[in-house]
Amino acid sequence: MIDISMQYLGLKLSSPIVVASTPLSESIDNIRHMEDAGASAIVLTSLFEEQLALESRTLDEDLSRGTDSFAESLGYLPDLADYRMTQENYLESLRRAREAVAIPILASLNGATKGGWVRFAKEMEQAGAHAIELNTYALATDSAQTSADLEQQLLDLVSSVCQAVKVPVAVKLSQSFTSIPNLATRLQAVGAAGVVLFNRFYQPDFDIEALEVRPTLHFSTPSELLPRLHWAAILYGHVNLDIGITGGVHSAEDVLKSIMAGGSVAMMVSALHIHGIDHIARVLADMCYWLEKREYTSLGETRGCLSRRSVPDTSAFDRGNYIKTLSSYSLRQTVAAF
Ligand SMILES: Cc1cc2nc3c(=O)[nH]c(=O)nc-3n(C[C@H](O)[C@H](O)[C@H](O)COP(=O)(O)O)c2cc1C
Repeated sequence: MIDISMQYLGLKLSSPIVVASTPLSESIDNIRHMEDAGASAIVLTSLFEEQLALESRTLDEDLSRGTDSFAESLGYLPDLADYRMTQENYLESLRRAREAVAIPILASLNGATKGGWVRFAKEMEQAGAHAIELNTYALATDSAQTSADLEQQLLDLVSSVCQAVKVPVAVKLSQSFTSIPNLATRLQAVGAAGVVLFNRFYQPDFDIEALEVRPTLHFSTPSELLPRLHWAAILYGHVNLDIGITGGVHSAEDVLKSIMAGGSVAMMVSALHIHGIDHIARVLADMCYWLEKREYTSLGETRGCLSRRSVPDTSAFDRGNYIKTLSSYSLRQTVAAF
């Protein structure tokens, strides 16, 4: 029997497949099903900074009702009912998930700014989270805000969460940073144990008839995996951070590529929404078959074998790849034209 266990954030995981944050794991039956299908850990759905802010303002409002002291408008935040869970429900779901399964349960905190809300990480830890994933989805819309400001804001946020808890903290990053290796090195310095590559952007779509901007959510396709592989392969061996891959992991081949790039785990969400939770078992069986056919004795042996530091020709990760790709395309086109 091939050894497919992996280490991630100091946790020994039975397989490389982790379920990333999804509302599927809001049901305890689904959580049990994920464990039975072979998921080695589950990241719970996120608790949002805005949700915590809104809950505490609503409490203030209740306490000061009948006085003029609560002047601030809540209008700029979505309605409390738009969020999936209140903080109390969140902690209760976390405790129930911990009791229901033996695999590690990671809590997810989603925000962009440092503030009192990061103390909630402590409560997640006390409720039994094995680790915390910090989703740092921030959008630059202010021309006065520089890239350096945004990175500092992120580092301050990560630093305060890492100081608040003893469990490992992984940072789910956006792809839109100019120097991901530099940022990763600084995340490590402020206490992060891992990075999760990458957050998907959910840009709103435009309805040109109704003249409205509408939220859209499409499931991923495997083509989204490529930038994740690229950056994991560059980071692997250069920073002392575990790497989780999320975005475009659908098949056994995608899992193997993620590990070969240097990831410790490959996370799935869209594939489970599309094919069902049992898809995890099929992917693991396909992956073991592939490894056994090639006489590997463990999945760990393949880790990082296609990373930038392992391949003889690093130009595939640099400008050389860009030039080769573009020029080989135009050559093919020219030949076809004759
Ligand atoms: C319906 C849905 C809800 C999600 N909710 C969250 C969330 O609360 N927090 C978070 O960090 N990511 C959330 N995600 C993003 C996923 O965790 C994952 O990173 C993303 O879908 C890319 O992985 P995939 O290609 O396997 O779908 C959500 C994704 C979907 C499809």
